[in-house]
Amino acid sequence: MDLRVNDTTLHVVATGPDDGPTVVLVHGFPLDHRMWRRPLEELSDAYRTVAYDVRGLGRSEVGDGQYTMELFADDLLALLDALDPGPVVGCGLSMGGYVLLRALEREPERFRGAVLADTRTAADDDATRLARARSIRTLRTDGVGPFADAMLPKLLGATTRAERPAVVEEVRRLAVENDPRGLAGAQLAMLSRTDTTGVLGRLEIPVLVVVGEEDELTPPDGARAMAEAVPDGRVAVIPGAGHVTPMERPAAFLEALRAFLDELSGSPAPP
Ligand code: MLT
Repeated sequence: MDLRVNDTTLHVVATGPDDGPTVVLVHGFPLDHRMWRRPLEELSDAYRTVAYDVRGLGRSEVGDGQYTMELFADDLLALLDALDPGPVVGCGLSMGGYVLLRALEREPERFRGAVLADTRTAADDDATRLARARSIRTLRTDGVGPFADAMLPKLLGATTRAERPAVVEEVRRLAVENDPRGLAGAQLAMLSRTDTTGVLGRLEIPVLVVVGEEDELTPPDGARAMAEAVPDGRVAVIPGAGHVTPMERPAAFLEALRAFLDELSGSPAPP
């Protein structure tokens, strides 16, 4: 369905019982909600599972392409208002984690648990900002195909690249179906985002940090440090996966996610 929130139209997919505990999935870059295909299919027996396309990506409205992480967090919080499910479990991968972390920093009471997958709290350093500026130039001059081809080896682990050509093809397809203006806008949002490290120690909810063992963009050591900084944090390292764990090792990712959700579903929601 398409939902009008925060002066934009977001493409939203929801599975599972309307009155079930809600988990909201925020995808990574340069992908869209379809990276959550397996959780959308398989958690729906017990959980209201909601995934959406971040503004400018997938089938959500592109608008003017002038995005900030703050705007992405506004969109997520407005989507929660529209769904009206009470406190949810938020789950964000990489860029989705940046969005979720900022929303957690601003309105922690909206969440009763969080899953931070293949992500980080640090803002970009200068080298990364300049690399993003170069990639925006590539998008303008060469289009989405060369941009996606340059990103794929960083996104996917060595095992996936060697052994799972169908996954490589699916990730590439999601990337190239994006509008270059939306991709450039998301790069601007990421390069200008703030550091959210301070929020980890203040979180009063259970947090699961998930990371692919072969993730080179947000490596396991950083994930372990994030989990240690959260009072009720834990980490799951997924073998044979790089940065896009739910697509590279869907069964292992789902096992970790479901165990966490099941543990939480007995927890009372915060007042
Ligand atoms: C992502 O997977 O969302 C991006 O690689 C994150 C980033 O570029 O920082």
